[in-house]
Amino acid sequence: MKIPIFKLNYEDEFIKKYQDGVYDILSTGFVGEGKYVREFEQKFSELTKSDNSVACTSGTDAIELAIRSLNISHGEIIMPSNTFFATAVAVKNCGCDPVLADCCTDDLSLDPREVRRLITEKTKAVIVVHVGGILSSRLSEIKKICDTHNLPLIEDAAHAHGSYSDIGYAGTIGDIGCFSFFPTKVMTTGEGGMVTTNNDSLANVVRSLKNFGRDINDASRCIISQGMNSKINDLTGLLGSLECDRVLDRVQKRNSLLEIYKSNLNSNFKVVTQDGGQCCYYKCIALTENAEAVRDAMRKNNITPTGEVYSNPVHHQNVFLQSGLPNTDWVAKNHVCPPLYPELTTEEVEYICSIMNGV
Ligand SMILES: Cc1ncc(COP(=O)(O)O)c(C=O)c1O
Repeated sequence: MKIPIFKLNYEDEFIKKYQDGVYDILSTGFVGEGKYVREFEQKFSELTKSDNSVACTSGTDAIELAIRSLNISHGEIIMPSNTFFATAVAVKNCGCDPVLADCCTDDLSLDPREVRRLITEKTKAVIVVHVGGILSSRLSEIKKICDTHNLPLIEDAAHAHGSYSDIGYAGTIGDIGCFSFFPTKVMTTGEGGMVTTNNDSLANVVRSLKNFGRDINDASRCIISQGMNSKINDLTGLLGSLECDRVLDRVQKRNSLLEIYKSNLNSNFKVVTQDGGQCCYYKCIALTENAEAVRDAMRKNNITPTGEVYSNPVHHQNVFLQSGLPNTDWVAKNHVCPPLYPELTTEEVEYICSIMNGV
């Protein structure tokens, strides 16, 4: 059996609908941001139960737009080191310094004690990352800390399309949420991002910022702030809209496959799961002390493990080098992410488990 790192199938019906949509778009002679982008945003709001969704060109831009919409242009932003470096890049792009915090080893989420420890008068915001799509039970504590200190909470929900728990839906738990539609994500538009918020004024600022800083209420479309061009086109909007139609089915499939991992892996592994609600399970995160040997065994047996979350955290990156994050270092060494995507069959996941158990 050969199991690739990733596979993505589109049903014939999906392809047909995309072709019809492309015909519709091209017949109008306008491929810019139009009705399909609006449709994508509306469906994404239904998925995330958010009042506003604003499409943009990437998850990284979504984070930058979120920070800038909060009128933050200097100072410190507390964020976990255990994330993809794009989170820190977006913070830097806004003229701010990322203050890297340690994570919890059970669900890989930002540790609230770290947030408390790192808050200073320079702190402007806190970013949480829903690693693997999992909404941590500690989110309410972090939210409380932010409220007490009057700090905005930004969610990097790049992994968490449609995840919810008793605290709410990913992207609506803090003040503003940021999603990515990179090809490996739970839903994809090739490249793309989305900002979600229940705050209408913040959403309008994002709408302006992603459109050069134009005044969205003025027909003359004057520039009212220094924005950027992060608009997407209708071909991307169409793809996103069709992805919204199937994402919940695909999340169900991810959940069933994760259950197989959970029940088949032996006691050398602890699969990280979300308490309550529903997680989209972007990743199967299996904590193990034999990570390197498990990865070797997978490779020898034609299974390509997926990227970890994270074996190369932000504080290991040359431009953000820092020490003193023991839990993040522990996580980096002690987990594997076997393949998890809806195209996998039960037999394939059982096979992956048997190889992992054999180590
Ligand atoms: C946690 C996290 N944040 C941000 C991003 C950036 O998203 P994008 O690649 O769409 O810019 C990614 C992934 O790509 C991510 O995994």
